[in-house]
Amino acid sequence: MGLPDLPVKLPHKALRSRLLLPYLLLIAVAFLYWRALGTHRIIDLITSGSQLSQVDWNLLDAGLTRCAVLRAPPPQYTFPVSADRENPRWSSLSGQSKPVLLRNATLFDGDSFQESVDILFERGVVRKITSTASAQHIEGAIVQELNGLIVTPGLVDMHSHHLVGSWPSFQATDDINEIHPSTGPLTPFVRALDSIKAYDPATTVIASGGVTSSLILPGSANIMGGEAVIVKNFLKAGDHGEENVEELLLEHGVPKDRRRRYMKMACGENPRRVYGHTRMGNAWILREHLARAKDLRDRQDTWCLSAAAAKESGDLAAISSLVGPGPDGHRGLPEELELDSTVGILRGQVGVNIHCYEPEDMEDMILHSEEFGFRIQAFHHSLSSWKVPELIKASGQNITIATFADFGLYKVEGYESNLQAGKILHEHGIPVAYKSDHVGEGTNAKYLLSQAATAHSFGLPELAALRSVTSVPAKSLGVDHRIGHVRPGYDADLVIWDSHPLSVGATPLQVYIDGRPTLSTERLQSVNTYTGKPNMRLDPPKGVDQLCSRIKNSQNVLITGISKSYLDLPHPKAPSGEGLAIAINSGKITCLGKYDECISTTTPSSNVIALQDGHVLPGLTAFSTTLGLVEIPSEKSTSDGPVSPKLDPLNPENVVYAKYGVHPEGRAFDRARIGGVTRAVTAPIPDGFLSGVSVGIKTGQNRSILDGGIFQDDVALHFVVSQESKGSEDTPTVSTAIAQLRKILFENKGKDTIYGKAANGEIPVVIHSQNKHDILQLVKLKRDHGAVKIVIYGASEAPSVAKELAAADIPLIFTAAHGAPDTWEKKDTLTGPPLTESPIKVLSEANVTFGLAFPPESDWHLHSLGIEASWAAKDAGLSSQTAVNLVSRNIEHILDIPVSRDFVIYEGNPLEYGANVVLSVDGDDGSITTCWPEAQ
Ligand SMILES: *[C@@H]1O[C@H](CO)[C@@H](O)[C@H](O)[C@H]1NC(C)=O
Ligand SMILES: *[C@@H]1O[C@H](CO)[C@@H](O)[C@H](O)[C@H]1NC(C)=O
Ligand SMILES: *[C@@H]1O[C@H](CO)[C@@H](O)[C@H](O)[C@H]1NC(C)=O
Ligand SMILES: *[C@@H]1O[C@H](CO)[C@@H](O)[C@H](O)[C@H]1NC(C)=O
Repeated sequence: MGLPDLPVKLPHKALRSRLLLPYLLLIAVAFLYWRALGTHRIIDLITSGSQLSQVDWNLLDAGLTRCAVLRAPPPQYTFPVSADRENPRWSSLSGQSKPVLLRNATLFDGDSFQESVDILFERGVVRKITSTASAQHIEGAIVQELNGLIVTPGLVDMHSHHLVGSWPSFQATDDINEIHPSTGPLTPFVRALDSIKAYDPATTVIASGGVTSSLILPGSANIMGGEAVIVKNFLKAGDHGEENVEELLLEHGVPKDRRRRYMKMACGENPRRVYGHTRMGNAWILREHLARAKDLRDRQDTWCLSAAAAKESGDLAAISSLVGPGPDGHRGLPEELELDSTVGILRGQVGVNIHCYEPEDMEDMILHSEEFGFRIQAFHHSLSSWKVPELIKASGQNITIATFADFGLYKVEGYESNLQAGKILHEHGIPVAYKSDHVGEGTNAKYLLSQAATAHSFGLPELAALRSVTSVPAKSLGVDHRIGHVRPGYDADLVIWDSHPLSVGATPLQVYIDGRPTLSTERLQSVNTYTGKPNMRLDPPKGVDQLCSRIKNSQNVLITGISKSYLDLPHPKAPSGEGLAIAINSGKITCLGKYDECISTTTPSSNVIALQDGHVLPGLTAFSTTLGLVEIPSEKSTSDGPVSPKLDPLNPENVVYAKYGVHPEGRAFDRARIGGVTRAVTAPIPDGFLSGVSVGIKTGQNRSILDGGIFQDDVALHFVVSQESKGSEDTPTVSTAIAQLRKILFENKGKDTIYGKAANGEIPVVIHSQNKHDILQLVKLKRDHGAVKIVIYGASEAPSVAKELAAADIPLIFTAAHGAPDTWEKKDTLTGPPLTESPIKVLSEANVTFGLAFPPESDWHLHSLGIEASWAAKDAGLSSQTAVNLVSRNIEHILDIPVSRDFVIYEGNPLEYGANVVLSVDGDDGSITTCWPEAQ
């Protein structure tokens, strides 16, 4: 088979003869000399060493050989891909050994859906896709009956940092950014390949989310960060089952000089922050470097052309000057290893991927690309690109926007993040890809698909959403002849899903990489739950867009078409059945029941709002350490500030109160409102052991602290007992944090201070803690001092000590429903299905009391709080009512705050993607806090 993966346009033989050309020329030229001058003359030349020695011929020859490589066009492929193509990663020892037939699949092939097909793959390649009705029988094949389950290509993540870092993260293995004064902000010459640790356990976790290929990039500290490389997420896949970097590479088996290359670049805040230059300075640094590379490329081209010509004509003087030492002492073809990658960019051989968020930065980069003549493959992150789709399109470069669906607000250049960005970009014809930026729990690449699902729920059409994590990134990276599709001739990377991939919590039942199954086959036998298509958030029907003013102008409103109510006391309980109606008068529910019953309570009849699939839920309650205290986490001037680690935590006078710092407005509040989150508990931002006293705030629009913005001044007293508590003067160790906590709680009993209240159990004590051993310290504390109401926030490793927590009656505000073992103190965190038991299931089966929240600094995610709960419940097989309670009643109960009387009416089911908040009512004063249409 030879070299199965060489470009079709430049077939094996043709390439060989190209590479041989200089040799053939050399022989021809030598022959001509011999004929013309006689053998003596050449030997004279060589022995006298006067002009041209044998070594010099070699130098010329070597130069010309390099010229062929340097100036070769980038690998190209013709389409369609041949069905009998071989997978260069396949080997007879460790590769897929038996053909597999997936019978009766619903296939998304990377482009569109095909119903009821059989998919045959062998030797790591998809061979045939046929209609199930034609019932093919393949001798010796493993047949997997799918009964209509959805199969997609393995997902492609075009931005990940696993393998160059590793889980759990250590200082010793953080090889993501080359930051060093000696190399500075331009490091195009470093390679992610040289940082890869072929053991990173995150790889297996990522594959379990269906992500089979990832572009591994250096970080974004540098203007040019270095070369990136594509891997398949399959550890120890080679013949010897060893930790081998080469065997991870997508292009393992492809000749090294025909492999694709990628450059990571960055503009905007990161290089600015790390090196202290302005944008002007960064642009100059880049342009000056590109000019050097351009000069080198031009000198190379001149040399290559002159050398070929001189060789052909046999012009000895020219040859001698080409291989002789130049003014800089360099002999032969000019090359600089330092500039090799950048010259490759200018030659179109290295794909350019730029971390770039803001319109002005993207415009500037496009300017540089035009000045120096290179193409930008993709802008990454690019959270403001939705504002300038035409500017991006006008570049003519078909630039992919590789972005986040909802991650944003964390820094100035991420503050313009728009939940409808995918929809907007798509409508302007811009290719959109979602990517993880995988480093830790918050960017876990395992959940790449949930971004496509989120984008879909905010208006990106179904097929575009599925392409955004399959064929679009594959095409952008120039590897769409192998991955991103399920078609004959493509690598057999396939995922079988338990539900529609764009629905909440869709999880792989099986993931094949190069035709090899990577999950236990039992999952496929046990589940068969494919359900229908998820929805998008709707634009309000005519008339409803005036909803707020209509309702405000009249006291009475009747909403019909309610399918389900999750309300409980103090609201009326809904009778069972669909087609219910809800009557609201001055913000109070006066009727929740059959249409006929409720209509009689409503006048005038014009105030009827007819929904298709209405749902009524209590307002959800979020727990946060930033909402209302920090607007943009990376900008100090937008924050109340962290609690100083210098304060003596034993002195109750030093306790910080969030109620004095809260500003109840901001972009995260918008997101909270469209997620039906009406209240939040926010604790002071800790920077060590002591946090302070949390406040209960409302998320409704136009609230101030004088105007009902705070529903409870003091909710709980917060401390941190984890790696995060280390380092301050009074708590240099985690053990001192525990000792201080015991002191505070044991020595203040009966006192009339905040510590006294905590010691007496009059206010809950929330401990932010993750590690199971630290958690057991808190169990012990509770055993020694039963009066204290201990609550644990975070609690990633709690499933390991669930029995002890249940016995000690310590409730949790759990943040690891989709957690990750990304640090040492969380190394035993369950990653959840399909690799492990669901942590939620473990906690609930052990009868631990818990509610759900997002990890710190996740306020950007508040629109998804209900989805998170629903997903967690789905993972654990819990009811939808339990899901709602996890983010409402359980939190209220655990923190001892009054039961919320807020209620929220949705069009659609808010436990699935795509439901809109139609109306949100503050139960305390009956005011309307949100109306359709929603802010984004
Ligand atoms: C394929 O699966 C669907 C869904 O379960 C089923 O309705 C159909 O009968 C199956 N077709 C065949 C040929 O087995
Ligand atoms: C632009 O890229 C997208 C996806 O990467 C691809 O589908 C499309 O064909 C490309 N358009 C052109 C004009 O090359
Ligand atoms: C949890 O509570 C249920 C209901 O009270 C009980 O049946 C079950 O045995 C308990 N489980 C454990 C592990 O204690
Ligand atoms: C909040 O104030 C703005 C500006 O005055 C107004 O447009 C908006 O309707 C108000 N929202 C509510 C829910 O009252």
